[in-house]
Amino acid sequence: MEMRKEGIERVERIERLKREKNAIILAHNYQRAEVQDIAEFVGDSLDLARKAMDTTSDTIIFCGVDFMAETAAILNPDKKVVIPDKGAICPMAQQLPAGDLLAAKRAHPDAEVVLYVNTLAESKALADCICTSANAQEIVNAMDTSTILFGPDCNLAYHAQKTTSKKIVPVPEYGLCPSHHQIVMADLIKAKEAHPRAKIVVHPECIPEVQDRADYIASTSGMVKICNEVEAGDEFLIGTEVGLLHRLKKEAPKKKFYPISTTAVCPQMKMHTLEKIEEALEKEKPEVVIEKEIMEKARKAIERMLEISK
Ligand code: 13P
Ligand code: SF4
Repeated sequence: MEMRKEGIERVERIERLKREKNAIILAHNYQRAEVQDIAEFVGDSLDLARKAMDTTSDTIIFCGVDFMAETAAILNPDKKVVIPDKGAICPMAQQLPAGDLLAAKRAHPDAEVVLYVNTLAESKALADCICTSANAQEIVNAMDTSTILFGPDCNLAYHAQKTTSKKIVPVPEYGLCPSHHQIVMADLIKAKEAHPRAKIVVHPECIPEVQDRADYIASTSGMVKICNEVEAGDEFLIGTEVGLLHRLKKEAPKKKFYPISTTAVCPQMKMHTLEKIEEALEKEKPEVVIEKEIMEKARKAIERMLEISK
């Protein structure tokens, strides 16, 4: 009971601080339930990048991982972007350091570079265009060259390759998301046996075998949209990080959702808590700061994506 009261009081303090500081909370679909519930907006990487540009707030409290908060900061040089826990670092983004990308570019001088938004800002600065899980296929097809260097996720590269005649060269060869690699075929077969009527809806960071068995493949917000559609049915096996289940159940309370794997958890996404959000609002720290030159180059690659993917 005492805990509940404490929690309610904290939420009230957060709401007051938001008003006082003209701040907005943006949260990714994998955030803890209570964090999603106090956010002004919850979405996928593309939604969040667009939302960060639309807001008239002075401060953005960004509840997601580092590359998402960096993207918001790159697109909003005049706003303060604060990430409640600086430890929220996406391990996939670490898999493509700028030096490795430079070496790949030298080996493929005629290829344009499309990078998944899940990358370091300094790697983005070397890219021709950025993509997200919502638009990877569209972006690859919109490029000018017949060979595309694509990184760091080899599973998203597999997804993009399905709708293009261009040659996609993954860089690094085996970049991946550790959380989505928890979702294996054995889990999927077992889940389908238990719920034979359920539609299989997965994220393109899943391994190729899981993608091939799915009824739908989409970004996290795309998955929510599909599950909300009447034609898709009312029972679903969900192949992504388990945080998405909160939004799915909230938006479609009459439908049934089963995670394919309950161990598909992204610990970095769970680092932001209400306590840390309150502190971040109070101190307006830790702020996301990116070197000016990197910021300007990376912005060009992100803006090219936003121009193509309207
Ligand atoms: P979405 O853009 O689909 O939300 O994906 C981001 C991500 O990190 C998935 O692991
Ligand atoms: Fe990165 Fe995977 Fe976590 Fe997404 S779920 S933020 S790709 S580690």
